[in-house]
Amino acid sequence: MKEVLNNLREQHQKILMMLDRPEQVEELIHFVEEVHHPLEEIELFPFMKDKPCLSQGGPRCSLYMGMRLELDPLTRVRGHLADFYRKTSFRPPHYPLPEWLTAQNPLSIPYEEHVVGAELAKSLLFLSKPENSTLRAELFEKFYDDYCRLLRMHIDKEDNCLFIICERALA
Ligand SMILES: [Fe+2]
Repeated sequence: MKEVLNNLREQHQKILMMLDRPEQVEELIHFVEEVHHPLEEIELFPFMKDKPCLSQGGPRCSLYMGMRLELDPLTRVRGHLADFYRKTSFRPPHYPLPEWLTAQNPLSIPYEEHVVGAELAKSLLFLSKPENSTLRAELFEKFYDDYCRLLRMHIDKEDNCLFIICERALA
């Protein structure tokens, strides 16, 4: 698992270098949604799901919880997506969640960010189609900005909170 964790940290660096380059959006989405998040969900999260240290929290966890309560970035993004779904027939595919995931499990936080990120990613791919160029001119920049911000926040939280807890579990 140590190797997986190191790999995930390296992948975070790769993702950070790909942000704010809208011309690379498809490459970014492929790497995040098809490579990075599946590795976390298939390897790391099931390994960590029942570890007692997960509920004890890690460094900066209370800071992130405070930010989540005060700034509530996901609700703002969900509002953008709801407006988009009202305007179009587009709906994102269902995001599969594991049976073990409950609202009380601390991993519901990164999972929720994966779900919202995937909705943004699918919406961006929809907007990138040539037949949707009018909507693209209106919405692409906002959704791309939402996606980059969400990934930056998500990676910062994982690097400085969740992955530190994982390292403790592996020590
Ligand atoms: Fe990650």
